[in-house]
Amino acid sequence: MTWRIAVLRGDGIGPEVTEAALRVLGACVAFQERPGLAGGAAIDAEGSPLPNETLGTCLSSDAVLAGAVGGPKWENGPVRAEQGILRLRRKLGLWGSLRPAKYLGLPTPLREDLARDADVLVVRDLSGGVYFGEPRGTTEVGAFNTWRQSEEQTIRIARTAFRAARSRRKKVTSVDKADVLEACRLWRRVVTNVGKEFPDVQLEHRHVDAMAFELLASPGRFDVILAENLFGDILSDEVAAFAGSIGLLPSASLGDGPPLFQPVHGSAPSIAGKGIANPVGAILSVAMLLDHGLGEPAIARAVEGAVQAALREERTPDIGGNATTAEFTAAVLRKLPAVLAAPKAQVEAEVSAWGV
Ligand code: NAD
Ligand code: IPM
Ligand code: MN
Repeated sequence: MTWRIAVLRGDGIGPEVTEAALRVLGACVAFQERPGLAGGAAIDAEGSPLPNETLGTCLSSDAVLAGAVGGPKWENGPVRAEQGILRLRRKLGLWGSLRPAKYLGLPTPLREDLARDADVLVVRDLSGGVYFGEPRGTTEVGAFNTWRQSEEQTIRIARTAFRAARSRRKKVTSVDKADVLEACRLWRRVVTNVGKEFPDVQLEHRHVDAMAFELLASPGRFDVILAENLFGDILSDEVAAFAGSIGLLPSASLGDGPPLFQPVHGSAPSIAGKGIANPVGAILSVAMLLDHGLGEPAIARAVEGAVQAALREERTPDIGGNATTAEFTAAVLRKLPAVLAAPKAQVEAEVSAWGV
């Protein structure tokens, strides 16, 4: 089967890490690359951060692989590059994001004895909150946004988190600001009700400010972190501290249409074009694509195994090494054949003991 994969390279380091990801994907499955313009590159070429042609390509593909969009060039224009990603999520009906992060045995800003047990999955609502609420706008004296959360949005993302917890350590920590915001009081009430459908999963609530502290003070006590749109965005960068770099984290955006896979990080303008971006987040997004998009969990585990093995030999500068993006990617490609050929149980055992 030849999969149809829409590929949105985007801006800054987006094209660099996407190239690495495509090479790894090509070593795993047969696929037809269907390139599309998105973000700043699309504004420059077409005047829109998500041209209709790109949307059509995504809608008719089995999955979408993206880099990152945005950069200083498009910060003050009439339309921002980031709107391309937001519109894509909306048009593809992608309402939930899975963002795993754990300690990988790499240098981290945390004390090693604290970081060692960190292994979380941030389950983020992509459809609600302050991102899409209307009305919004700018007046002569200020600017305003509206925070909206519906029961339906909250129920479906909460169920996603509880289901994910069932195949992990069976614990959900729901994050809100229910002490201040009505939308978060609804969130807490709905999540509590959904929790009753999952009596085998432990549920706890945290205010986001307290959570921001506790995540770093006791990372090992968390499993699935359920958060609305903005809090999930913030906390999914915070948990990169467990792994050691924002460049290491992958994500899957799932919902009603073709799923989207991309690293959590952005376009990193200050290192763009230098060939030193860490491609691990993009390559592990390929593993998530294989798993959640193409139904190939064994190959997904092999990609994770090859990344793990490559990290023992080569590292990009953000995690203390001096490898280039291309050198690290070559190391992953060297490791991949042996891992792909290894018995499934052996690969799973090695990957579950992740660490380099
Ligand atoms: P960023 O994630 O681009 O960068 C934050 C820091 O991490 C920078 O120091 C950067 O150099 C470093 N970094 C990020 N990815 C790295 C990698 N793969 N390897 C090595 N170092 C890496 O966040 P930002 O600076 O806040 O945002 C820059 C632009 O990216 C903005 O326009 C923002 O809106 C956009 N953005 C896009 C996406 C996306 O398209 N999915 C996600 C986040 C941010
Ligand atoms: C992310 C990004 C996006 C978000 C931006 C680029 C719209 O930060 O995917 O984490 O805020 O959701
Ligand atoms: Mn983000």
